[in-house]
Amino acid sequence: MKKIVLLFLVSFAVLQIQAQDKITKTSPRIMILATGGTIAGSGESSTKSAYTAGKVPIDDLLNAVPQIHNYGKITGEQVASIGSQDMNVVTWLKLSNRINQIFKENLADAIVLTHGTDTQEETAYFLKLTVMYDKPVVIVGSMRPSTAMSQDGNRNLLDAVMVAASPRSQGKGVIVAMNEKIFDPRDVTKSSSTNLETFLSRNFGPIGLIYDGKVSYYYQSLRNSSKKFDVSKLTTLPQVEIVYGYADASPLTVTCLSNSPIKGLVYDGMGNGNFNEPVGKALAEASKKGILVCRSNRTGSGRTTLENEVDDAGLGFVVADDLSAQKARILLMLSLTETSDKIKIQQNFFEY
Ligand code: DGL
Repeated sequence: MKKIVLLFLVSFAVLQIQAQDKITKTSPRIMILATGGTIAGSGESSTKSAYTAGKVPIDDLLNAVPQIHNYGKITGEQVASIGSQDMNVVTWLKLSNRINQIFKENLADAIVLTHGTDTQEETAYFLKLTVMYDKPVVIVGSMRPSTAMSQDGNRNLLDAVMVAASPRSQGKGVIVAMNEKIFDPRDVTKSSSTNLETFLSRNFGPIGLIYDGKVSYYYQSLRNSSKKFDVSKLTTLPQVEIVYGYADASPLTVTCLSNSPIKGLVYDGMGNGNFNEPVGKALAEASKKGILVCRSNRTGSGRTTLENEVDDAGLGFVVADDLSAQKARILLMLSLTETSDKIKIQQNFFEY
């Protein structure tokens, strides 16, 4: 037993030395920001699904994957320790301001952000719209906790560091790296509650692949990533809520929300963002009260288009284009920090 422990310690030390040997003055400085999630999750059993997200501190995450030191000068920072179902606007603002500060003060050449998968796509899109620099910010998570058999977190973290360190990632800004694929934050979504291959972009696919230590890009979004919203002086965002559409839906939810202080409402409608007559009347009332109503659709792909079955111009609605409801909410919140002009806001959905 002592020989095994000694052998492990010697090999670990050799690995570290090798890693250090490979790090040169030109190696990229990669800062890993941790927020929690399953990648930092732990459970009692390696085969049962029960676990708690966000428990494993960043130092343990990094020590579990010593190979990351082969790709750059790695430093770590614990920004939050939450399951991402508890991610919120305050933490988004904290993350955006911290990342902008890191790049403004030239403290790192790239950032890896570890994050739960439940709201990873939302944080990614929010950061894409608010991080003022195009240096790589690679967002990563895992579907199995660190204590699980065949856990995916270590591999995903190593891949994310390789993506962050890759010269090909220069200028890519905020991207998502999960399960050997790279996605644009605007298009990526979590498509399965439990499957490892959960992240996908139904309309456009991944922008790149990671395999066997190689980072390859194939596509990039043509949406205007130069547009940024300055949130540096904000402590909150205009409140926007989402209402889901379904057969025989009651107008009650919309009516209650239109009597609240919200500034925007995303209606995730059926088909091309459609709703029944009672809900339509309630949405029209909300719009008359100055709430900005945005139609998205629950299908998961395609687009929500203007003037299809709905008189958007007459009702004062905007449409989400190809954004999901949760992404449309983010763009609407940020747009409302700049304007309440519906024509300008609609243009944001067609450009960003
Ligand atoms: N609690 C969920 C979250 O933090 C677990 C999902 C995950 O991270 O894979 O998003």
